[in-house]
Amino acid sequence: MQVYDLIQKTVRQKKLMKSEMQFLITNFTNNKIPDYMMSAWLMAVRCQGLSPEETADMTLAMRDSGEILDFSEIPGATVDKHSTGGIGDKTTLMIAPIVAACGGYVPKMSGRGLGFTGGTIDKLESIPGFSVNLSRQDFYRQIQKIGCAVIAQSGNLTPADKKIYALRNLTATVDSIPLISASIMSKKLALNADCILLDVKCGNGAFMKTRESALALAESMKSTAIAHGKKCSAVITDMNAPLGMAVGNALEVREAISILRCEIHNPLAELVIDLSGQMLALSGMGDLQECRCKALKALKSGKALTKFAEMIAAQGGDASVTDHPEKLPHSRASRMLFSDKSGYLASVHSEEIGLACLELGAGRTSANSQIDPGAGVVFLHQIGDEIQDGDVLCEIHADSDVLCEQAEKRICSAIQITEMPVPELQLIDCVI
Ligand code: URA
Repeated sequence: MQVYDLIQKTVRQKKLMKSEMQFLITNFTNNKIPDYMMSAWLMAVRCQGLSPEETADMTLAMRDSGEILDFSEIPGATVDKHSTGGIGDKTTLMIAPIVAACGGYVPKMSGRGLGFTGGTIDKLESIPGFSVNLSRQDFYRQIQKIGCAVIAQSGNLTPADKKIYALRNLTATVDSIPLISASIMSKKLALNADCILLDVKCGNGAFMKTRESALALAESMKSTAIAHGKKCSAVITDMNAPLGMAVGNALEVREAISILRCEIHNPLAELVIDLSGQMLALSGMGDLQECRCKALKALKSGKALTKFAEMIAAQGGDASVTDHPEKLPHSRASRMLFSDKSGYLASVHSEEIGLACLELGAGRTSANSQIDPGAGVVFLHQIGDEIQDGDVLCEIHADSDVLCEQAEKRICSAIQITEMPVPELQLIDCVI
């Protein structure tokens, strides 16, 4: 088999056979295919696409390049969730304990933030003592005992994806639906939960900027999951405004705790209940309506909060933050941003807020940069709220007054207040 011929086939939109896809992925991972040939093939895919069968075959070859987890000892269906990422997305912090409090099993491997999007792992690490590195045995044991564990990606999971992703980053081939789908789904299939809920974000703060591309990615990932025997649903959710009120690691943990304590009920809380209900339904715990009610009950009864405290304690963290969120890290400086007019909060540009938070120190500009866990922005109003001239729009947190001042202009221009009333945000667009 010649790599040259495989590149030609993809350029001419002729389908690669399963064995050809396996050959390409395995030999590239084992350094037997040079980067320049793989780059040419990736660019051919970027321009010509792959069929659903080819995408599923590529995903499987990538999954099989490394370790595959085994939850067969867990006495029920395991359910994973994947969000394609956005600004202020802290849903895992609430969904994992809610689903576990209802009797589900949630094994979760999450990533760190890079660029303007935050990572669940950085959020959890802002909890004093919390360890995101569990051995496989401890990971399995915790899921069996508590029902949920959230850890960083570790071990020899999908080495093919690591190598291909690094090359895509250098060759302008990240932006391809079949390649994104294979990259994400290879990791999901290697984690190997029985059920997968896909939360595909759509909007200016997301990978997928248009509804059309979000739907195409969701369809591609779902068909791959189904082709490999997983139960799967996909939800398209809005990412034109930050999710919830807080953006920044410890600030987002604090917001998640407030929702778990039922101190606030906002569109984010609604989304969390809906997504938890979807996960419970996939796990076979009833129909969607029943499962949504179960999720709501776990939240209202405080069981989900207790479960979150159990998970924190099991992973070495200070579980008392659930009663005393003031123990979470704070930045040294803060500043309030005031509205200079009356009207209605019409939009908050999430990508701009993500970039402002990066400047404040809440995110990483490179894989090794340090983050300030207390940095970020907390909004005091939601989309649709009436605003009076002089109201505080948000609080800005960073290590110094200078950083707060510098970010203020960017944050200010990301917020739009209009004279006309605007409807409240609908976070869920559709379920596939
Ligand atoms: N996230 C991934 O894991 N892979 C991609 O290709 C894009 C986003």
